[in-house]
Amino acid sequence: MREDIASLRNEYTQAELNEGTIDVNPFNQFEKWFTEAVASEILEPNAMVLSTVSKNGIPSQRTVLLKDANKEGYTFYTNYDSKKGREIERNPHVSLLFPWYDLERQIIITGKAQKVSKETSVNYFHSRPRESQLGAWASQQSNEIADRSILEEKLKMLEERFLNKEIPLPENWGGYLVIPESFEFWQGRASRLHDRIYYQDEMEGTWKISRLSP
Ligand SMILES: Cc1cc2nc3c(=O)[nH]c(=O)nc-3n(C[C@H](O)[C@H](O)[C@H](O)COP(=O)(O)O)c2cc1C
Repeated sequence: MREDIASLRNEYTQAELNEGTIDVNPFNQFEKWFTEAVASEILEPNAMVLSTVSKNGIPSQRTVLLKDANKEGYTFYTNYDSKKGREIERNPHVSLLFPWYDLERQIIITGKAQKVSKETSVNYFHSRPRESQLGAWASQQSNEIADRSILEEKLKMLEERFLNKEIPLPENWGGYLVIPESFEFWQGRASRLHDRIYYQDEMEGTWKISRLSP
């Protein structure tokens, strides 16, 4: 078994990333790569791994879906009382990682998360399928439940409660906007000499660009 794992190996040869062709603005570079990821039809191009830390400095990670990208930052939606929500309230420093293995690419963003406006959350919530809206009401995300049947019962009750009615946004549900402080764009290359281009926020919209050793 161990030997099998050790022999799993790929050479990365699809593309390169260099200072001559990258965009000086990391938001534009993100948009370029994100557009390419969507066009490549990989599964869930907008899935990203969100890392937060507990009050004792213990990290935790989970996948969330990117739902908006603009000049301010990157938005995902979740339950504000979840583990991640509670950790962000104490410490807004987070990281986001897009694992685009099929493209031999990875983007890592660090930054601070803040709640989006209620209006933004309401608009997004109502754009979701009705079942997802009910799901958000049914789940006290991250809390222990004794049995799956409890969730299913709750869903049934909620279906009746909101029958033929608009489902309101739950108080504890909404978006976080992650405002980036750094970006790293990683492109796999041959012989493990990968390209890593790092952008560091130097305030007022200027970004210091450097190359990191692979
Ligand atoms: C592909 C994928 C997409 C997901 N998208 C979201 C999401 O957008 N929001 C969310 O709260 N959880 C999402 N989840 C579930 C989370 O990974 C996680 O289980 C949940 O948010 C609870 O995390 P927490 O207990 O650490 O707060 C997704 C999971 C996967 C695998």
